[in-house]
Amino acid sequence: METKIIQLHLDGKELSEKDKTSLKKAGHVLREGGLVAFPTETVYGLGGNALNGESSRRIYAAKGRPSDNPLIVHICRFEDIYSITKIVPEGARKLAQAFWPGPLTMILPKSDKVPYETTGGLETVAVRMPSHPAAREMIACAGGYVAAPSANASGRPSPTTALHVAEDMLGKIDMIVDGGPVGIGLESTIVDLTVSPPQILRPGYITKAMLEEVLGCVEEDPAPGEQKSGQSPRAPGMKYRHYAPRGELIIVEGAKKKVIDFINARAAQDMAEGKRIGVIGTKEAVSLYRADVVKSVGSRENEEEIAACLYAVLREFDRDKVSRIYSESFEAQGLGQAIMNRLLKAAGYRVEKAAGDASETETQGGQGEI
Ligand code: TXA
Ligand code: MG
Repeated sequence: METKIIQLHLDGKELSEKDKTSLKKAGHVLREGGLVAFPTETVYGLGGNALNGESSRRIYAAKGRPSDNPLIVHICRFEDIYSITKIVPEGARKLAQAFWPGPLTMILPKSDKVPYETTGGLETVAVRMPSHPAAREMIACAGGYVAAPSANASGRPSPTTALHVAEDMLGKIDMIVDGGPVGIGLESTIVDLTVSPPQILRPGYITKAMLEEVLGCVEEDPAPGEQKSGQSPRAPGMKYRHYAPRGELIIVEGAKKKVIDFINARAAQDMAEGKRIGVIGTKEAVSLYRADVVKSVGSRENEEEIAACLYAVLREFDRDKVSRIYSESFEAQGLGQAIMNRLLKAAGYRVEKAAGDASETETQGGQGEI
């Protein structure tokens, strides 16, 4: 299949008339049952008509994704939530008012209009109203309901540029809408509103504290290490190995200087054995690492920058063909929680502690632990 690539010329945040014409074409492809990758404010999505079971089957096939892993239905007007859900609780209305359009997905009981192919056989549906102007225009042109997982091949880091999408999807889908690099860089926060209190199934840009401000009490789905045996995560997608770079990824925790020494010692040992070694560090520390490939993921002072760069850096390491990557660790608070959640998954939860304790180092404030 030939994949058509359409370039948008977003003028600041506004769509030009030419962009609108392009998005109309994308909407037409979706109405016909085709697949279109498109930018959102979080990551690129791989869209299909959410109300057409056959389109959803095609999405699973293009991604190589297990079909029990449900898709998020993207809408562009709040009122459209009523036709794809059975109940919209007060909490959902409040969250929509506070955070939609934006990087928040809500799980609600599905209506009969949504095929089981889209929900992976579940009685619930994930709904999100993105804020990206191109996404909203395209959804409107497609008839209002676009099912879209992240537009990566299953198991690879989510795409934050159209080039990443092309790496995974060229020849497998009808169209890629290139709207430039996305803003946030990590997937939306997912909240399950079918349970009380509501539960966060995937951390994201909308943090627990932000949700609590609107809802009062919110719980978190336990991290895989903390789950009771036999219990599986409530977002089916969270059980699969994700975002994995081709090289083995190891996260190193501890005080700043200890982490640098630990990584350098391990890298030297690995390289002496003939391995090609990579390091993911923060801007403040990258000059101190000694390895084959050292990449900065942004400043430790700027979590938004780290979120925006993380997936691109993981993909770059695949091109650099390293066999092992060591990464600094991040504080798991606020947006840092989403960053660590994705990094841990990419590492298959492999974490090592650099010996020694923080009090022995010369770092100050909260910056000592990495
Ligand atoms: O930011 C995002 O959410 C991006 C953009 C494209 O909107 N989309 C995205 O979709 O990340 P995906 O398919 O890569 O991740 C959706 C996650 C999966 O872990 C899936 O299992 C979970 O949402 N999910 C979807 N429907 C669900 C449901 N009814 N109940 C529980 N989890 C659900
Ligand atoms: Mg995904």
